[in-house]
This record gives sequence, structure tokens and C-alpha cells, in this order.
Amino acid sequence: MDIVLMGVPGAGKGTQALKLEKALDFKHISTGDVLRKEIASGSELGEEIAAIIDNGDLIPDEMMLAILKKEVAQIKQSIIFDGFPRTTAQAQMLKEMLGSLGRKLGKAIAISLPEDVVVERLSSRKQCRLPDGSVKQIGPDFSLQDCQALEGEIFTRPDDTPEHVLHRLAVYHEQTEPIINFYQREGLYAEVNGEQSADQVFEELLAVLKA
Ligand code: AP5
Ligand code: MG
Repeated sequence: MDIVLMGVPGAGKGTQALKLEKALDFKHISTGDVLRKEIASGSELGEEIAAIIDNGDLIPDEMMLAILKKEVAQIKQSIIFDGFPRTTAQAQMLKEMLGSLGRKLGKAIAISLPEDVVVERLSSRKQCRLPDGSVKQIGPDFSLQDCQALEGEIFTRPDDTPEHVLHRLAVYHEQTEPIINFYQREGLYAEVNGEQSADQVFEELLAVLKA
């Protein structure tokens, strides 16, 4: 059973997806991470993507789907989709793609978080680029000291400035929130409270998955 994790920027989708991946036999796909890898590769496509995402806007649906399909095709186990779908068109595309691969979505879970907490969280978020080019987020499982010990470079995401975060929130309300209705109609929608410790959010998520 595949699942979708949705929610405002900074809601904790990536944090929870990593916990689920560790605790259960899931494979985590963050479309944001996939896009940032394409940018880091220095490809022409990556340059095109950077111009869009650094500004906090969405990649066109067809382009996003083509990139995602390549990732999904290689995976046998259940998938956590983090950051996809982000438009109703993408939700429809995901349904069709999973159907064509004999896969099925079991739940679409939104992590809720008030906007003032979003801005505060993302303004203080830090990333670590390791010498092999991989990126880890500083958090409970990977500290600043871990980054320094591995000779990593600490940086902030270009779309995490307060102005970009406010723009990403506006994009979320306008383009992504309507998929809540889509998943309510499909009988797949559930919500957890993101304004509690990461472990408490995780417990709520596990309860939703068991329900
Ligand atoms: P993406 O990378 O998906 O960004 P996002 O949705 O804005 O979400 P974030 O990754 O910023 O936050 P998160 O919810 O994962 O939170 P996290 O766990 O990191 O997408 C980036 C861009 O790519 C988009 O703007 C768009 O341009 C493009 N894109 C991606 N998918 C696309 C698609 N499908 N179609 C078109 N374009 C697409 O946590 C945030 C911080 O809070 C961390 O510092 C963390 O340590 C901390 N934290 C987490 N949980 C807690 C907690 N419970 N308590 C306290 N702190 C916590
Ligand atoms: Mg994320």
C-alpha cells in the first residue's frame, strides 16, 4: 500500500517520511529532493528546474510526472510520496500511474501546521552537503557536529528565506489545498497534528496507518 504525505512547506513531511522508512518497509520519494538532485547534477534540465523552485513556484505537471515515473519504475516495495501530488491534475496522474503499475494508494495524510510556525521553522532550517555531493538535513538524527565531523558544508535552501516561504505558502493554498477534496472524495484522506514533537507526530501517523 502506497501513501501520500502532504502538508504546508515545513510541516515535517520529510522528517516523518524518514521515520516511516526506518520503522516500516517503505521507500521514501521526495519530489523536492529528486528535483534538487537534478539541479546538483548540473544538467540543462536542472538549470530550468532551479529557476522555478528557488523562487518557490511549482514545476509543470507533465515535467514532474516524467521525472517521477523514472523513480517509481525502479521500486518494488510500498512508497511514501512526499511532496507529490501538489495539484489536482497531479493527483489524477498519480492515480492513473499507480493503476497502470498494479499499485494502489492506501492513504493520503496531511500534516497540519499553523503558518507562523512554518516561517519560524524554515527560517532556521539548515542543510549539510557532504563531500560526495549528497545532502542531509540537520535535525534530530543528524547534527551540525555530525556534518562538521564528515567535513560537510552547511547551507540553507534558497527557497527558505521568509519571502520565499510566504510565497510557497500562497502556492500551497492556491494549487495544493484543493487535493484535500480530491482525497476526501476517494475516501483516503486523514490529517495529523504537526504542532507537537516529531515523535508524537510519528505516533499519530502510525495510528492512522493502522486504522
Ligand atoms: P519540497 O522540498 O517538497 O518542499 P516543501 O513541500 O515546501 O516542504 P519542505 O521540504 O520545506 O518541508 P517538509 O514538510 O519536508 O518539512 P521537514 O521535515 O523538512 O519542494 C520544494 C520545491 O520543489 C517546491 O516549492 C516546488 O518548487 C518543487 N516541487 C516539489 N514537488 C513538486 C511537485 N510535485 N510538483 C511541482 N513542483 C514540485 O521539516 C522542516 C523543518 O522543521 C526541519 O528543520 C525539521 O527538522 C523541523 N521539524 C520537523 N518536524 C518537526 C517537529 N515536529 N517539531 C519541530 N521541528 C520539526
Ligand atoms: Mg521536505
